[in-house]
Amino acid sequence: MIIDSHAHYDDKQFDMDRKKVLEKVREKGVVRIVNPSGNIASAEKCLKLADEYDFLYTAVGIHPHDAMEFSDDALKKLREMSRHKKVVAVGEIGLDYHYDFSPREIQRTCFASQIRLAIELKLPLIIHDREAHKDVLDIIKAEKADSVGGVFHCFTGSAEMAREVLDLGFYIALGGAVTFKNARKPVEVARYVPSDRLLIETDSPYMAPVPYRGKRNDSSYLIEIIKKIAEIRNETPEQIAEATSINADRLFGLRLLEGEI
Ligand code: NI
Repeated sequence: MIIDSHAHYDDKQFDMDRKKVLEKVREKGVVRIVNPSGNIASAEKCLKLADEYDFLYTAVGIHPHDAMEFSDDALKKLREMSRHKKVVAVGEIGLDYHYDFSPREIQRTCFASQIRLAIELKLPLIIHDREAHKDVLDIIKAEKADSVGGVFHCFTGSAEMAREVLDLGFYIALGGAVTFKNARKPVEVARYVPSDRLLIETDSPYMAPVPYRGKRNDSSYLIEIIKKIAEIRNETPEQIAEATSINADRLFGLRLLEGEI
């Protein structure tokens, strides 16, 4: 039993064979998937997917790349969409100073407003933090986001940064990067995070783990990430799968929801 805490099956890279891929993933033992959105159009697509696949859950939010799309109207739409039963978080939201696809000031406003929405809705956050660690933490603290908590997805920071994130009560999700040859920081973090605060993810269709690096990723490759983390932590893959599934269920309330659907 494994849970992929972060994948993007609404991505157009799956348009040709989405159903086939999701069936394969399910057969490989992936019991639940959280599929966050990146903008309003993507959120609409994600809600439809969540209706179609019982093991797929979603989150609504505007990614920093699309922060220019943010407006009062967009916020209203996100609020409306969040009423869907399978919306388990607000995300993915945050700051991306690596690509800087949107002006930083707008990214910050978009991020802070969506934290306020999450607090209003009592939903956890799925956070994207790329080369913006200080500003992400400053905004989280200023907005008191620790009251809802959440996860730093695809964590690429150091163990020291991980400590700050853990101190605020957030979870840390590791993905394909931990399997890369030159991985140093993710390996350090994989060793450091306590087992009750660790999540795993693929970020499909991106970030495929070794030996699939460079190919289209899907949740069945999660097993490679699990094996690598198990090796680093000197635990069994079963232990990693179990602990991370319990954590994802706890953070997003997935199992409770599954019982209701
Ligand atoms: Ni993502």
